[in-house]
Amino acid sequence: MAPRLHILSPKRNKRLQTGWEGFFPYYAGFPELFARELLQSARLPRGAVILDPWNGSGTTTYVASDLGMTSIGIDLNPVMIIVARARLLPPSEADHLRPLAATILSHAHSAPPTLDSNDALLGWFEPTTAAFIRGIEQNIRRSLVGSMTKSPDGIHLDKISGTAATLYVALFAACRKLVAPFRSSNPTWLRMPKETEARLVAPQITVARFFADNVRGMSAALATKLDADLLIADTPRAGECKINLSDTASMRLDAGSVDFVLTSPPYCTRIDYTAATRIELAVLGPLMSTGARALGKKMIGSTQVPSASIEIDDKWGKTCAHFLEALKKHPSKASGGYYYRTHLDYFDKMSRSIERMSDALKPGGRAILVVQDSYYKDLHNDLPKVISEIGVKHGLNLKRREDFHLRSMSDINPGRRTYARPSGATESVLCFAK
Ligand SMILES: C[S@@+](CC[C@H](N)C(=O)[O-])C[C@H]1O[C@@H](n2cnc3c(N)ncnc32)[C@H](O)[C@@H]1O
Repeated sequence: MAPRLHILSPKRNKRLQTGWEGFFPYYAGFPELFARELLQSARLPRGAVILDPWNGSGTTTYVASDLGMTSIGIDLNPVMIIVARARLLPPSEADHLRPLAATILSHAHSAPPTLDSNDALLGWFEPTTAAFIRGIEQNIRRSLVGSMTKSPDGIHLDKISGTAATLYVALFAACRKLVAPFRSSNPTWLRMPKETEARLVAPQITVARFFADNVRGMSAALATKLDADLLIADTPRAGECKINLSDTASMRLDAGSVDFVLTSPPYCTRIDYTAATRIELAVLGPLMSTGARALGKKMIGSTQVPSASIEIDDKWGKTCAHFLEALKKHPSKASGGYYYRTHLDYFDKMSRSIERMSDALKPGGRAILVVQDSYYKDLHNDLPKVISEIGVKHGLNLKRREDFHLRSMSDINPGRRTYARPSGATESVLCFAK
């Protein structure tokens, strides 16, 4: 019999994000401790492969590597590929970061690039500020993103070095700080300035200081990790980890190649995962083969209407079908149109992704999914139940479900004020076996 998993609450706690972790303040499905307890209690055999198909900021791959396990992380957002890659930087690299950053800054100072008139940074910054930021980015790319990562179809982000990824994360954080005036009350949303609004101007010294401060902080946090590692005599060697840029609805994984899945799929709460990383996507502009809007459309949970018409599928299960029928008939504006179509898109992509994930799992393998429910107006979208049914339709058995009540919902769904509905949300940990 498979060992019983130790399941802690998957509730995120900002206060726990300190030290090295503090530099990765991206929306995470669950905390590091949750993943650590779970993976340790699974007592997986040596060489077992762990997969997170929606790896985001890379909590699963980080913890798996720390425990010496082999892992694969997938995400469609290039920003998340870089963030997850940076998080894996070995503490032994701590000393190299600062001299590298100093060289990069001095090159950017002496020769700021001529800016392309379409540069996405111009969305927020005045040309001189944008040019200096682009200069830093270009120098990270030139000095660290070797020819290994370049191919005729662009840059292979999957192969980017941990050091380059870390310097990108330091630049992301500097830009996030600069664009703070455009943050809204929704923490996952950064707005674009209006046509008439002035773009931001920051002197080179300010941009350089923000970047250098981040690099210094990251280097110090890594060095602290190194000290802690040395105290633990039997620290396992980090396992191999692959971070791949891919769309889970069409990803190709070898059948039966994965022992254990630990993941938190995109929620159906209108979180736009690309809007949350707009400024980072602007920094990465020259490395991207798809524009931010096209990328947003491919995301599960996209707020854009799908191009193709989609029909309810039997593989989505009964709960999903009932929910969609009620949503289509809902009297409120745009329910039967825009909202119905974006929900169809969500479940279609989700079902196709779970099918691929299930195919990749070995017989006897396990898949742990952290899923949150939500409301559409007064309609309960019981996503844990829907995902359970989709899993079963694709050959998985639901073995256990643990529910945790959250006081607030990560939700920008309409109707929060107009309709009576319970406060908070339920976050469920679904444990499947194949
Ligand atoms: C809930 S977050 C995962 C959080 C992750 N557990 C962490 O620790 O940060 C969901 C992730 O799914 C990604 N995503 C959305 N649609 C995707 C798709 N079609 N293929 C792959 N990844 C996708 C988003 O970019 C986002 O990073």
